Amino acid sequence: MTLSAEQQLREQNLVDQVVASFAHTPDPRLRELMGAVVRHLHAFLREVRLTEAEWTAAIEFLTAVGHITDDRRQEFILLSDTLGVSMQTIAMNNEAYANATEATVFGPFFVDDSPQIPAGGDIAAGASGEPCYVEGTVTDTSGTPIPGARLEVWEADDKGFYDVQYGDERTAGRAHLFTEQDGSFRFWGITPTPYPIPHDGPVGAMLAATGRSPMRAAHLHFMVTAPGHRTLVTHIFVRGDSYVERDSVFGVKESLITDFTPQPAGAATPDGRAVDGPWSRARFDIVLAPGD
Ligand code: BEZ
Ligand code: FE
Repeated sequence: MTLSAEQQLREQNLVDQVVASFAHTPDPRLRELMGAVVRHLHAFLREVRLTEAEWTAAIEFLTAVGHITDDRRQEFILLSDTLGVSMQTIAMNNEAYANATEATVFGPFFVDDSPQIPAGGDIAAGASGEPCYVEGTVTDTSGTPIPGARLEVWEADDKGFYDVQYGDERTAGRAHLFTEQDGSFRFWGITPTPYPIPHDGPVGAMLAATGRSPMRAAHLHFMVTAPGHRTLVTHIFVRGDSYVERDSVFGVKESLITDFTPQPAGAATPDGRAVDGPWSRARFDIVLAPGD
């Protein structure tokens, strides 16, 4: 569409006027943010020549996102995740540092005050799924072990639900533990399986209307903290899971794809635990960047 010079000028004048309305914002960062959001938003409107009906539909969509959001359901985060905004913000704020382990999305299912387990303990606590033995180390970027690092680990069960989604106060599939003197850790959990993000709300409708899947690649969440080091929020993903190519929240990084090696029923376990049926094992060596 070609616009007359007069129309272009009229549109540009409005953008300039709105940007100028923020000129006296005392906080320079807020001034920068407001100016940029206005310029980019208007550039979008003008690029797609948004109709009034489309703008009404957009307002209705955002209203629905607000209405479904409460203490347990954060649809705005799901929207940010599915638009890649969460991952972009993480990428910008966790720049690659030497060989440090890469970060990925936090997700909405972390819970403070998870139970502590000893080395070799089981985070499943009744969550259904195939047992999985996970071991590794936490070191700094020069390979020095970090003893006493705190690992928070959490995961969905094989039905695709986190404990908090059952609404019955159970705690399962989550725990924290600390690394040993040599920086090592080990625990039992369940082999991660793919699951859909909550998709019964407006974000789900957006995914359906655009032919996108709500599925997340199978993963196990980690948050690793140690004094003097950058906190790491990440996952490990399962090599061979087809959703690693099309994770609904764009969280997969090649370096985080891990072998979950299948073990047949009866295979000896590393700690002598008796396991009924097949199980798997995975190794995740975590490298923390120095703190800021
Ligand atoms: C999760 O991995 O738990 C998650 C991440 C983003 C959106 C929904 C769930
Ligand atoms: Fe998750």
